Amino acid sequence: MDLIFSISILVLSFAACAWILQILIKSRKVPCKLPPGPKPYPIIGNILELGEKPHQSLAKLSQIYGPLIHLKLGSITTVVASSPEMAKIFLQKHDQVFSGRMDQGVAHALSMTWMPAEEQWRKLRKICREQMFSVPSLDSRQGLRRDRLQKLCEYVDGCCVHGKAVDIGRAAFTTSLNLMSSTLFSEEFAAFDSGSCEELREVVCGIMEYHGKPNLADYFPVLRSLDPQGILKKNTVYFRRCFHIFEEIIGKRLEMMRGSGTRKNDDILESLLDINQRNESELTILDIKHLLLDLFVAGTDTISTVVEWAMSELLRHPDKMLKLKNELRELVIGNNNHEQVTESDISRLAYLRAVVKETFRLHPAAPLLLPHKAAGEDTEINGYTIPRNAQILINAWAIGRDNSTWLDPESFIPERFLESEIDFKGQHFELLPFSAGRRICLGLPLANRMVHMMVATLIHNFDWKLDGGLRPQQLDMNESFEVTLKKTIPLMVVPMELHS
Ligand code: HEM
Repeated sequence: MDLIFSISILVLSFAACAWILQILIKSRKVPCKLPPGPKPYPIIGNILELGEKPHQSLAKLSQIYGPLIHLKLGSITTVVASSPEMAKIFLQKHDQVFSGRMDQGVAHALSMTWMPAEEQWRKLRKICREQMFSVPSLDSRQGLRRDRLQKLCEYVDGCCVHGKAVDIGRAAFTTSLNLMSSTLFSEEFAAFDSGSCEELREVVCGIMEYHGKPNLADYFPVLRSLDPQGILKKNTVYFRRCFHIFEEIIGKRLEMMRGSGTRKNDDILESLLDINQRNESELTILDIKHLLLDLFVAGTDTISTVVEWAMSELLRHPDKMLKLKNELRELVIGNNNHEQVTESDISRLAYLRAVVKETFRLHPAAPLLLPHKAAGEDTEINGYTIPRNAQILINAWAIGRDNSTWLDPESFIPERFLESEIDFKGQHFELLPFSAGRRICLGLPLANRMVHMMVATLIHNFDWKLDGGLRPQQLDMNESFEVTLKKTIPLMVVPMELHS
C-alpha cells in the first residue's frame, strides 16, 4: 500500500511538474522584434525628437531608419508608417486591427471621431453617410452651398471696392462655418468681419487647439486625471459653450416639431431628431450634440486650411493661376455664359482637379492623419512585431513628398496629375489626405465639392495681387503644426475687378 501510495505521489508530482512546465513555456513571452528607430531616453522616450513640426521630424527619421519605425513617446509605444506600401498594410491589409483610436479620456468618450471602431461608431457613421454625405442628400443641398459661395463673392467684392486685403484663411473659415451650420441646422452663425461668428469660431478653434497642443497626458495617460497643463479643463469649457448653443437650437426645434408636427427644415438636425423621436435608444439627444460637435470641428478648419494653401500656391505660380483661370473661363463660355461654375462642372475641369490634388499632396490638412491604435493582438508586419495597443501614425505628408514616388516632389506641379489615375479617395496610397480604410474621412464627399468650388469661385471671379507689394516668390510658405497644417503667416491678398 505504501509502495503504491509512493508511486502515485511520484507520478502525480511528475504530471504536475510537466503541466507547470508546459504553462511556463506557453506563457513565456517571445521577445518581440519592434521596428527600428532612435534610442529612447528613460521616461520621456523620444518625445524631444518630435520638435515643433513632428511630421517633418518623423520624415527625417524615416530617411534614417526606413518606412516603418518605432518610437517611445513617453509611455506610449508608437509606430510610424511613411511609405505608400506601409500605409496600405495598415489601412487596407490589416485595417480591422489598426482602426482603433487611442483613449482620449471621458471628454471624448461619446465622440464618433475618437470612439473605438465598434458598434456605436458603425451606427453613427451609417447615419451620417445616409443623412448627410450620400449623393442624393449632397445634391439636394447644392443650392445652399451656392448661396454661401455667393456671400463669399459679395464679401470679396466689397473688399475690391475698398482696395482692402482679404485674409483668405479667415474668409474660407467663415464660409465653411456657415455652410456647416446651415447644412446641420439651417442657421447661419457668421457674418464676415462681424463679431457674431466669434463665439462659434472661438469654440471650434479652441477645440482644434486642444487637439493640436502637445499634451503630456497623451504621452503619460496616468496623468490624465491630474490634467497638469489644464488643457482638459479649458476644453471642457469650450464643450460646454458649444453644447449650450446646440441645446438652445435643439430645444427650439423640438418645440416646433411637437407644435406643428410638420417638417419645416430640410436639415441634418431634423433628420437626427426624427430618428431620436422614433426610437430614443437608437440616437439620444446627447449623441446628437456630440455628433454635431464632431462634424463642426472636423469639417470647418480642414476645408479652409486647404483653400488657403491652394490659393497660396496659385499666387506663387502666376502661370498656373492663369491656366486655371482660362480653363474656368472656357467652361463658362461653353456653358452659354452661365456666369458661375457649378458642382456638376467639376468633372469637366481637369486642371482645377489637378490643382486641388497637388495641394493635397504638398499640404495635407492632417499631415499625420489622426492617430490609430492597434486594437487587436500583436501583429507581424515585414518581420517586425506591432504590439497590441501601440499608437499608429501614418505620415501622409512624408508620403506626398517621397522622391521614390514623385518626380521633383517639392515643386507645385499640378500637371503631374493630368495624365495620372491617382486620386485621394482612399484607393491610392501615394495620396492620403483623407486617409483610407474604415476610418477614412467621413466628410470626404462634402469636402471634395467644397474645396473645388471655393477655389474655382475665388479664381474665376477675381484677379488677385499679394498684399504689401510682395512678389510671388517672396510669399512665405512656412507651416505651423496644429491639428491642421496651417500657414505660419496668413495669406493676405488684395482682390481686383476682373480684366476681361
Ligand atoms: C479638406 C477637408 C478635410 C480633410 C483633409 C479631412 C481629413 C481627415 C482625416 C485625415 C481624418 C482622419 C482619418 C483617419 O483617422 O485615418 C478625418 C476624419 C474625419 N473627418 Fe475629415 N477631413 C476633411 C473634411 C471633413 C468634413 C467636411 C467633415 C464633416 C463635415 C469631416 C468629418 C470627419 C470625421 C467625422 C472624421 C472621423 C472619422 C472616424 O474616426 O470614423 N471631415 N478627416
